[in-house]
Amino acid sequence: MCGIVGYIGEQNAYPILLEGLKKLEYRGYDSAGVALLCPDELKVIKTKGEISALERKIGEGFPEGTAGVGHIRWATHGAPSDINAHPHCGCSQEFAVVHNGIIENYLNLRRWLEEEGHCFVSETDSEVLAHLVEHFFDGDLLQAVIRAVKKVEGSFAMVAVSEKEKGKLVCARKDNPLIIGLGKGENYIASDVPAFLNHTRKIYILEDGEAAVVTANNVEIYSTQGEALQKEVSEVTWNAAEAEKGGYPHFMLKEIMEQPRALRETMRGRLLREGKEFSLPELNFTPEEINSFEQVYIVACGTAYHAGLVAKYAMEKILKLPVEVDLASEFCYRDPLLNKNTLFIVISQSGETADTLAALRLARKEGQRILAITNVVGSTVAREADKVLYTWAGPEIAVASTKAYLTQIFSLYLLTYYLAQEKGNLSRDTLEEAGEALFNLPDQVETILQRAEEIRELAAYLASWESCFYIGRNLDYAVAMEGALKLKETSYIHAEAYASGELKHGPLALIVEGIPVIALVTQRSVMEKSLSNIKEIKARCGHVICFAQEGTIEFQREVDRVFYLPATLDILMPVLTVVPLQLLAYYTAVARDCPVDKPRNLAKSVTVE
Ligand code: AGP
Repeated sequence: MCGIVGYIGEQNAYPILLEGLKKLEYRGYDSAGVALLCPDELKVIKTKGEISALERKIGEGFPEGTAGVGHIRWATHGAPSDINAHPHCGCSQEFAVVHNGIIENYLNLRRWLEEEGHCFVSETDSEVLAHLVEHFFDGDLLQAVIRAVKKVEGSFAMVAVSEKEKGKLVCARKDNPLIIGLGKGENYIASDVPAFLNHTRKIYILEDGEAAVVTANNVEIYSTQGEALQKEVSEVTWNAAEAEKGGYPHFMLKEIMEQPRALRETMRGRLLREGKEFSLPELNFTPEEINSFEQVYIVACGTAYHAGLVAKYAMEKILKLPVEVDLASEFCYRDPLLNKNTLFIVISQSGETADTLAALRLARKEGQRILAITNVVGSTVAREADKVLYTWAGPEIAVASTKAYLTQIFSLYLLTYYLAQEKGNLSRDTLEEAGEALFNLPDQVETILQRAEEIRELAAYLASWESCFYIGRNLDYAVAMEGALKLKETSYIHAEAYASGELKHGPLALIVEGIPVIALVTQRSVMEKSLSNIKEIKARCGHVICFAQEGTIEFQREVDRVFYLPATLDILMPVLTVVPLQLLAYYTAVARDCPVDKPRNLAKSVTVE
């Protein structure tokens, strides 16, 4: 997820673009840049680093131009660097483009453009857009943009500007947001309203497949087929703080709610033909490598560790390989047993967690080849690993990790089924069944999110307790660990996760009348045993809130509350089960008036051991 801004009017564009980029820093902050249509030329200034680095680079004497575009980057293709920062130009430096999204076919487009004589300078997918616009330009910037985006497979929100057609900005979008702010004698473009909310509340919301020509006094909307369209003016009612959170009261809720989009970005280019094929070209595993693996070793911390626990069950079942999952802080101090044919995976949202980095370096010293699963392109973990599978969840601001966890387990499922596909140890039907079920998960997550109010009611019960149990068997136990951590770190309730079968070996002594027990019962293979565990708790008057797949078993009589989840393959249920648990933690924390996005004593990235 990146941030795009555009301005055209009577004022100097640079200060307005800078202000807008600062309001969009939650969308990415590893590099920034502007392109300004100055009287004599199109000036592009960009740099690695946060916006302050751009300000320092430009200094006091900023170029004067009354139209321009700006970009704040969250890298996906190409590590953060000056040359990979946006805006990107074509060969002639007469065109500049800013882009948010992922161009899946950028390598093919790049090869074709190079054959046409274009020279590329960056490692990004976005640069192809600038060369496409330049390639198709024949005096009409809108037509050049329309022809360019027709060649693109993937997602984009883009704005083009050219010194060959001054006095206008041309934008287009597919699968990524783009808003046009309507001023008097000036107009704005941005990925999100916070960028220009201080200037106007009147907006056009560009829809997928639409383009616009924006001048100081006019906005023309077109379909990307070139047909002129009429559009209603909308009014923004949010205040600036709400707008930065997409209208949500907290980043945590915003990030929970954007999980369907995050999953779709994670699967983009990796789950092909609606789930018929798995593809992970970025890992460039050879068949020999894939068939050489004798064990899997996963090391991480906190929520990322819990993602690894889900992978253990899935990988052992699908790949028939032993999977060891270890806390990074433990791995480093217990002389782990590793053999040379290990698929060694580190998981880290930030890619900067000191414990996980220490584990990565120890594993490397032991001769391991490291596969990193991380959300931050160019992070230390990404740079020190041998292979990287990015989760592409976009920046996660809330300390409590939600969309990062969901895209981590989704990425691990993609990896598992990809390896199974390449090893040939699953039938075509089984692979396609799993692929289609994975493909449908974002929509199913959406249906759960639409029931958030039901979870808010359940949270009201939890909020009055100081301790709470999460129980589950098999994959449900792994998810129970994550659910308990979410509640602990946001609402300060002492929540503990237990394997359901373990209660009778001690924890049952803690069951008192009314104590909340979150029972996860989604795995059909252990359904009966889970039910008997629930009865153990009910016999001692515990208050059981159960999460189960719809259509599996009638729990109403056995528990106090039941929340039925959409049905899918048991092995994939963690992607659905965790969502209400995230909401449960969020609403409980709100009910207890806790600082949801920044819980006490915690940091978003723990860079000390
Ligand atoms: C999760 O909600 C916590 N904020 C924390 O456990 C986190 O998952 C852990 O610190 C690991 O962070 P990383 O994924 O950035 O390495």
